[in-house]
Amino acid sequence: MTPFRISFCCSNTDPAPWLAGLRAALPQANVSVWQPGDALADYAVVWAPPQQFFDEQPQLKGIFNIGAGVDALLKLRLPPQATLVRLEDAGMAVQMAEYVSQAVIRHFRDLETYAEDVRNGHWTTYPPRQRSNFPVGVMGLGALGARVAQALAHFEFSVNGWSRSIKALDGVRGFAGAAQFNDFLASSRVLVNLLPLTPDTANILNRDTLSRLQPGGYVINVARGAHLVDDDLLALIHSGHLAGALLDVFRTEPLPSAHPFWREPQITITPHTSARTLRDDSIAQIVGKLDALQRGHSVGGIVDPLRGY
Ligand code: NAP
Ligand code: GLV
Repeated sequence: MTPFRISFCCSNTDPAPWLAGLRAALPQANVSVWQPGDALADYAVVWAPPQQFFDEQPQLKGIFNIGAGVDALLKLRLPPQATLVRLEDAGMAVQMAEYVSQAVIRHFRDLETYAEDVRNGHWTTYPPRQRSNFPVGVMGLGALGARVAQALAHFEFSVNGWSRSIKALDGVRGFAGAAQFNDFLASSRVLVNLLPLTPDTANILNRDTLSRLQPGGYVINVARGAHLVDDDLLALIHSGHLAGALLDVFRTEPLPSAHPFWREPQITITPHTSARTLRDDSIAQIVGKLDALQRGHSVGGIVDPLRGY
């Protein structure tokens, strides 16, 4: 295979182990951390790069994003001929299934109340809750959402799934498109968001949509902060329609210290950690796809810029 150049431009990422992994797997490649003024590269491995990177790298054939979401990249001007490839699962799906399953179970089993009682020295039990009263809706049934929906079905929750095109997943009742969105919401009490952030899905968790959830609804947002209208969530919690929320992603990250989510007792926050990029799995996936692209084969995870994911 002819030599080629890979430029690595990932913010908030220690480059050394990535470079070592990529060099070991691709001995024919010249892999380096991008510096302004660098020579032209053939491929890029990126996370939240500056616009200057793409302005100085107009000949890229392929751009590999070391995350699943490409919303931030699609705000930049990318070289038009470059194929943009995102991570597909790469070890994130099982993490997301763990995170969401524990959240749904914690809420359903009322474990926060038990923890509080125990902290106060009280030995109290409450009547068991009925699973049938806690149907879960998963928005987005892609690499992550499908795995989450099936993990929840394994715990015998009634699971609804919503996607653009209809999906047939064991144990999951499928809904598709705008026409079935309201029925999907009305059939769900716990709502899990695993949609990509696109022009169609921005602000999709708002007063109108969240009001359609069954009373006592609970929102788990693990996709992007800009899916959620923050004030609408707070208003519906304060009105009592929603029981609370678990939020892993925010419009501004880190979440500003003055933001009311920090102080709302019915909201639990985590610092964008529900599914982390795993370096070795990601390098293996990128190397496999790069090799396939070099050979002229098709690969999964190619982003359609018009669709936005
Ligand atoms: P994916 O494989 O591209 O799946 C996206 C799913 O959303 C697909 O099922 C798609 O429907 C559906 N969808 C897209 N637009 C829609 C619309 N307008 N209406 C209804 N359904 C729509 O994405 P993924 O790998 O599962 O990742 C999902 C998102 O999770 C990422 O974009 C990222 O924002 C987020 N994420 C967060 C973390 C974290 O740590 N918090 C980690 C990783 C990823 P079709 O199947 O019909 O195309
Ligand atoms: C993380 O948020 C990702 O998109 O991979």
